[in-house]
Amino acid sequence: MYSILLLIHSWLRWAVLIAAAIALFRSFTGWQKKLPFTDADKRMNAIFMGFLHLQLVLGLVLYFVSPLTAGFMQNMGTAMKDKNLRFWGLEHQTGVIIGIVVAQIGSIKAKKQGSHKTAFIWFAIALGLILMSIPFASRPLFNFG
Ligand code: HEM
Repeated sequence: MYSILLLIHSWLRWAVLIAAAIALFRSFTGWQKKLPFTDADKRMNAIFMGFLHLQLVLGLVLYFVSPLTAGFMQNMGTAMKDKNLRFWGLEHQTGVIIGIVVAQIGSIKAKKQGSHKTAFIWFAIALGLILMSIPFASRPLFNFG
């Protein structure tokens, strides 16, 4: 169960990042070229949010089955001094959850205002937070189990 969840979570990261890149590109060009905020834009933003929500649910389940987070919770005092345990027990979740909240606020605001600029700014901040909180060097970029 743990290894399958980790594998899905690992690959879903790419769906999140690709959807973020497309949503950001669309909102940037829409803003710069003063294009109308269409149903297709709403759909793309919803796809991005959908992947984020799915990743959030998977991550929450992973948090309770991962041996790393179990190690973190068993002895938090010592674990906080261990870079690896602190990252997986605290920093990863905190950073990505704040990122997801920022993206959610942006998506709602952009839809209400029909504004590409709003979508771009909030999504860019969200993506920055997410990129800062996921591993690039310590884990495989493409996890084959
Ligand atoms: C945008 C959202 C997220 C992204 C892009 C993301 C990305 C990642 C990546 C790339 C890994 C490493 C996978 C590997 O080793 O192949 C990982 C592991 C993990 N993530 Fe996330 N994650 C997200 C959200 C979350 C959330 C919300 C939680 C928990 C509340 C979470 C908990 C975990 C846990 C527990 C691990 C595994 C630690 C272990 O190796 O046992 N993630 N995540």
